[in-house]
Amino acid sequence: MRASVFIAFFVSILMASSANAASPNSAYEGQRIFASHCQLCHGPDGKGGGPLASNLGLTPTDLTRTIRSRSDTILRKIISGEDGPTISGRDRHNILTDAMPNWGKVLSDQQIDALIAYMRYLGTSKHELLGDPLLGAELYGNYCAVCHGEDGYGDGVMTQILDMEPLDHTNPVAMNPMTNEELIQAIMTGNGEYMPGWEGLLSQEDVEALVSYIRLLTQ
Ligand code: HEC
Ligand code: HEC
Repeated sequence: MRASVFIAFFVSILMASSANAASPNSAYEGQRIFASHCQLCHGPDGKGGGPLASNLGLTPTDLTRTIRSRSDTILRKIISGEDGPTISGRDRHNILTDAMPNWGKVLSDQQIDALIAYMRYLGTSKHELLGDPLLGAELYGNYCAVCHGEDGYGDGVMTQILDMEPLDHTNPVAMNPMTNEELIQAIMTGNGEYMPGWEGLLSQEDVEALVSYIRLLTQ
């Protein structure tokens, strides 16, 4: 009896923590889903010029212009199509047409939240994504995570054995003031005792991909 109560308690803690855990990689996951499901109509930059839009004669919204005025709750409804006709007030015009597909049938809530994180990046960041974040993620896992940490917090395993503080890529105060060019330069040439220079090991394309990936880690 006591054991089963204990197990139930433990499972509820596990479920609560997985439900609340904000994935630091969510904008990155959102970018992957956006590329496969949304850019067809909305275009890679979210501005509405995707290839399917011209085929269908649609005018998809320029998401970079509307995203700032939309709450997460409204965005979830628009994307999932859930309760569409019941949304009222100033957001009503977005669901008047059925041109925007209802994604609730094929995407999970977590995937929709990841999309929202990515669309917020498109709408608010002044830093363009220069390279391919997918390639960047792979290179990051191979070469950078050991110091900067799997999720970019600057807490990789090497920090347990060497006295260093790798940049926390999730920290907007540290990341946002740096331009893409400055980040590329820093990665190519290195900094201080422990941040190595990657010139010669990584190509310009690789480093641009890395910069795009770490931009999406910034919260
Ligand atoms: C088949 C084309 C098509 C695809 C694919 C598509 N959309 Fe849309 N989307 C539209 C159109 C058209 C509108 C404008 C609808 C309207 O105003 O009634 C729109 C509107 C939106 C809006 C509302 C914008 C606003 O705030 O006013 C959001 C958010 C959105 N789309 C997100 C997405 C996401 C996320 C995906 C991928 C999961 C996606 N769309 C895929 C065609 C598409
Ligand atoms: C051996 C550990 C280590 C590895 C591997 C490593 N870094 Fe670093 N990195 C650091 C440390 C430590 C700093 C902080 C340097 C400082 O501020 O003196 C840093 C700083 C940085 C900075 C900021 C540079 C600046 O001038 O402020 C960037 C960007 C960066 N790293 C990206 C990367 C990328 C991308 C990779 C993988 C290709 C990588 N790092 C691999 C340890 C490492």
